[in-house]
Amino acid sequence: MNTKDLQKKIRLLAEQKNAVILAHYYTTGDVQDVADFVGDSLALAQQAAKTKADIIVMAGVHFMAETCKILCPEKKVLIPDPEASCSLAESCPGEEFAKFVKSHPDHKVISYVNTSALTKAVTDVVVTSSNARQIVESFPKDQKLIFGPDRNLGSYLNATTGREMLLWDGACHVHERFSVEKILELKVQHPTAKVLAHPECKGPVLKVADVVGSTAHLLKYAVGSDETEFIVATESGILHEMQKQAPEKMFYPVPPEVSGERTCACNECQYMRLNSLEKILSCLQNEAPEVDVPDGVRQKALQPIEKMLEISAQLGL
Ligand code: 13P
Ligand code: SF4
Repeated sequence: MNTKDLQKKIRLLAEQKNAVILAHYYTTGDVQDVADFVGDSLALAQQAAKTKADIIVMAGVHFMAETCKILCPEKKVLIPDPEASCSLAESCPGEEFAKFVKSHPDHKVISYVNTSALTKAVTDVVVTSSNARQIVESFPKDQKLIFGPDRNLGSYLNATTGREMLLWDGACHVHERFSVEKILELKVQHPTAKVLAHPECKGPVLKVADVVGSTAHLLKYAVGSDETEFIVATESGILHEMQKQAPEKMFYPVPPEVSGERTCACNECQYMRLNSLEKILSCLQNEAPEVDVPDGVRQKALQPIEKMLEISAQLGL
C-alpha cells in the first residue's frame, strides 16, 4: 500500500474507534502527517491529559506512552512498537534512582519526563525541556535539589539558574553526539545562520548555540524570527515541521561526531524511528501492543506529573 492509502486507512480506523494519534517531532514525516497532534514532550502530555478519545496511540517512545497511561488509566494506550525505548530513560534505572534519592533525604527531587514510571514514583515534580528552568526556579533558593537523569540539561540548568542541583549521570545518545566542529564547519558555509540547540546536547555545543530550548521552543523561534537560515542541533525529525511551517527558510541538520569504531552516522533517534505507518495501522487494528502501569506505581508517578501540568498551566506554558 502506498503512503497516502495507508494514511487514509489509519485516519478512517482512528475515527471509527475514537482513537487519537499523538506523535513526537522526532518521528518521520509520514508519521507526523497522519497524527491528530504533533508536539514536544510537554505538549504531548498536555494533550493526553485532556483528550476525550477512548484510545491513545502514542507514536513516540515508551516513557511517553507510560505518561499517557499514568494520566489516563481508564483509556487504552497503544504503542506502535514496544521496542521504542529511550537511552536517557534507560540511563536511570528506577531502583537505583530510588536508592540515590533515599540517601539524600533533605533533597527534593526533580525528574525529566524521559524517565520510567518507577523513577517518576520517587520524584517530587517532573519537568520537560519546555518548563525545566521555571520549575527549578519555583523552589526556594536554599532548597537542596536532585535533578535526573540528564547531566547535560542538569548542568545547563545549574548554570542558568545559579543552583547547585545534585545531578544523575545520564544522557541521550543522540544529543550527546552532536559535534561542535561540524557546527563550526556549517557556520563557515552559512555565516548568517543561527545555531539552534536542544539542552540535552553537551555543554560545548550549547556554548556555540544562539538559541537553546525544547523542540517546541526551537520550532517557534525558527518560524517566528526574521532570520532565514538555521543550523539545527537536535534530532533531525524536527526539520519536517520547521520546513512545513517556514518553507521559504533554510534548515541545516548538524551531523554527529563520527569517530573510531562508531558505525552509526545518523542524527536520528532509532527508537523514535521505530514508529511507522504500517505499525500504527496494525496497532489500531489489533488494539495492541498496549502499555500498562501497575496501579501502586501509577498513583505515585501521577502526583509529580500533575504538579508539572499545574505549574505549566499557571505559567501559561
Ligand atoms: P522535548 O520533546 O521536550 O523537546 O524533548 C526532546 C526529547 O528528546 C524527547 O525524547
Ligand atoms: Fe530518548 Fe534521546 Fe531518543 Fe529523545 S532522542 S527519545 S531522549 S534517546
